[in-house]
Parts: sequence; structure tokens; C-alpha cells
Amino acid sequence: MRILGIETSCDETAAAIVEDGVKIISNVVASSQAMHAKFGGIIPEQAAREQVKSIIPVINEAITAYPDFDAIGVTIGPGLIGSLLVGVETAKALAYTWNKPLIPVNHLVGHIYANWLIDEKKPPKLPALVLLVSGGHSELIYMKDHGVFELIGSTRDDAAGECFDKCARILNLGYPGGPAIERAATKPSQTPLPRPLIYEKNFDFSFSGLKTAVLHRKDEDPGQIAYELQEAITDVLVKKTLKAAESLKVDSILIAGGVAANQRLREKMNLDLIPPVSLCTDNAAYIASAAFFNNRPIPWQKIDAVPDLVV
Ligand code: KG4
Ligand code: ZN
Repeated sequence: MRILGIETSCDETAAAIVEDGVKIISNVVASSQAMHAKFGGIIPEQAAREQVKSIIPVINEAITAYPDFDAIGVTIGPGLIGSLLVGVETAKALAYTWNKPLIPVNHLVGHIYANWLIDEKKPPKLPALVLLVSGGHSELIYMKDHGVFELIGSTRDDAAGECFDKCARILNLGYPGGPAIERAATKPSQTPLPRPLIYEKNFDFSFSGLKTAVLHRKDEDPGQIAYELQEAITDVLVKKTLKAAESLKVDSILIAGGVAANQRLREKMNLDLIPPVSLCTDNAAYIASAAFFNNRPIPWQKIDAVPDLVV
């Protein structure tokens, strides 16, 4: 079964065709990130306008060589309302005119399915513990089976990606902050940054204090602060994930979301199976995969964008 995935939750406009949830047939991503970089962050109205311009060319490119597919999967949330609406309303119009089933997909659940696109012969073993770290979310999720998710920990304030983004801004390193911090992180300093909640007996995160700590040290060498920030964030993420995996006795540990593109995090997690960097940041291939494994079509009349959707 081939599914066309459509993703427009933030500043990427993406469309992809995936076979049986595991094999990428086409995968197209257009991003308005460079435009936002000038302003040091996303301007939602601008992001939505770019979505409108890109959506048809991107879908067209994804399907031109592969016009035969069986259903459409679309991100309905969480995300920016203006951006989400572009993908959702386009998907509804196409499902109606092409007479295809339409499957709503939670963007966060979608991220997790990047792990099913690594090697079609080696799907992740379930139950799994998922560390989902993106621009807006830092969550530990117990995935018992497809469609059966339990949130076991989340951030109490800023997400890990948000912390990278805000600190990069404080340090004048540019946007998006994660890759900018990663590039700048050259040498350790004598004074490490705190590891918030690392020894607490829960699976929650808190990253807003790190932002304040960085603000206090913004006049130091940015390469050293970037290094210490990356170490602090990745230490907390790894330690808490391993502790949760141990207590839940899972068969695998998965990472997902834009922050999973971070090389230092990937090194420290040391997992057998890890999605390539290009599948960690926003794309529509994982949306198509999630739609395949959670194939519950809904009449297009009943599908709406939900900006604050949860796992
Ligand atoms: O999943 P994603 O592409 O979009 C959301 O759904 O939010 O994640 C974007 C986040 C941004 O905060 C960005 O700074 C972060 O992922 N990110 C990284 C890296 N690449 C992207 N963080 C750390 N290291 C990276 N290499
Ligand atoms: Zn995302």
C-alpha cells in the first residue's frame, strides 16, 4: 500500500510517498527556514504564506513520477495554525477530488515513525521507549504498540530544541539554534552549566533555567558556552532516557524529532537503530509511515487542524 504524506506544521512544506510504511518512494521538503533566519526565529504569518506558495509544487514533485497511491496522510497538529491549515485544507481538497481515504496524523507520533524508515528489514522492536525532542516538545513516550502511546515524562517549561534556539539567539549564533550551537561547540570551559532535574525521581525535563544560566554568561567565549550547553542538554536527555528504559523494561529505545539530529546526542545515546539526520527534522515520509501503521481514515468533512494536539 502506498500513502502520500503531507506535512506543513511549521516552516517546512513536505510531501512524500511511502510504501507499506517502510519504503520511501519519493520525499520532497521545501523550507522557509532561511527566511526566518534573518529575524532570528519563525514569524508564523510569514511561514504560513510560504506554505501556501510551496504546497502544490511540493506535492506535484512528490507524485509526478509515482501517481499511483492508495490514501493520503496529513499532519493535523500540533503546530502553527496558519501553517497547519495549508496542509490540512489541501489534503481535504485532494482527497475529495481524487476520491482517496484521508488519514489524520499527529505530528509528534509522525516523528517517531522515522524509526520505521531506517531499514525496511529491521523494524524497531516493541514495546519501545521513545525520546521525542523537537522545537516545541521534549517527551518520553512508552510505545506499547502502534497507536498505543503513554506519555511518561515531558518538559515543565522550555523544550530541548527551544532551549537550543533561545540560547543561540542570546549568543548571536543564528537560527535554527540547534545546528548553530552544534557547529559553534568547539571547546569545554572550566565551569560546566547545570544539569536540571537529572537526579530527580521522575521523567520530566526543565530547560528554561539553562537559558537563564547562559544569559548570565553571555560575555564568555560563545564556543565554550555552546559546548557546555550541548553537554548539559544531552547529558540530561540521555540519563533520563536510560533510567526510564530500565524501569519500563522495553525492547528498544528510539529517538525522534529535530534535536535527534544532534551528533553529540546520537553519540551519547549509542543506539543500534537511529534515523538519519534528514529524517529527524520535519518531513512527510514519517507522516506517510505513521498513516500506514495507524490507518484510520476519516471523512474529509470531519478533519480539522488542531494546533495544540497532544500525544
Ligand atoms: O522536529 P523539528 O524539525 O520541528 C519541530 O517539530 O519542532 O525540530 C526543530 C528543532 C529546532 O529547535 C532545532 O534547533 C532543533 O530541532 N535541531 C537541533 C539540531 N537540528 C535541529 N538541535 C540540536 N542539534 C541539531 N543538530
Ligand atoms: Zn517536528
